[in-house]
Amino acid sequence: MDDRVFGKLVFTQEAIKNRVREIGRKISVDYHDKDLLMVGVLKGAYAFLADLSRAVALPIRVDFLVVTGGRIFADLAQNIAGQDVLIVEDIVDSGETFAFLKKELMARHPKSLRICTLLDKPHRRKANIDIDYIGFTVQDKFVVGYGLDYKNRYRNLPYIAVLDKVSEDEEA
Ligand code: IMP
Ligand code: MG
Repeated sequence: MDDRVFGKLVFTQEAIKNRVREIGRKISVDYHDKDLLMVGVLKGAYAFLADLSRAVALPIRVDFLVVTGGRIFADLAQNIAGQDVLIVEDIVDSGETFAFLKKELMARHPKSLRICTLLDKPHRRKANIDIDYIGFTVQDKFVVGYGLDYKNRYRNLPYIAVLDKVSEDEEA
């Protein structure tokens, strides 16, 4: 890939790296006496979770689940009863995905359940939720990159950008 930026740059690779490091440090402190299980919500959280987990200086465990169309499409490989669970999301928009996940996972009786999202887009929030760790707050624009997709593309961009013309892209 050349240096061309797809769309309008919102967060550079450097800005993301620095923020991820900060959150990683905070999580390391907050969970120093706990046994943390990080749960990445696929697909969007894959890049963030890979970097965030490596910014945490604790021997944590990592697992994944896939949520699509309001259901768990692929579940965790382990039981979370009695575990300190941290859900890792790419973005919280309406908050419905997180509200759903929280309900599902709380029913499994974890010891604690928190959420960390790279991006918070509060403008269209429907569910009343508290977010424990937030990377960046974004405007009400559709962003891609660093795991976030438009029609399953652009996840691999190392930065976060707003696509210029989504409709043009659709025709491509
Ligand atoms: P929710 O509205 O909080 O339930 O978010 C659902 C999902 O919408 C997120 O996990 C993302 O996959 C997707 N999403 C929301 N806003 C954006 C965006 O700006 N770019 C890419 N995906 C988004
Ligand atoms: Mg998506």
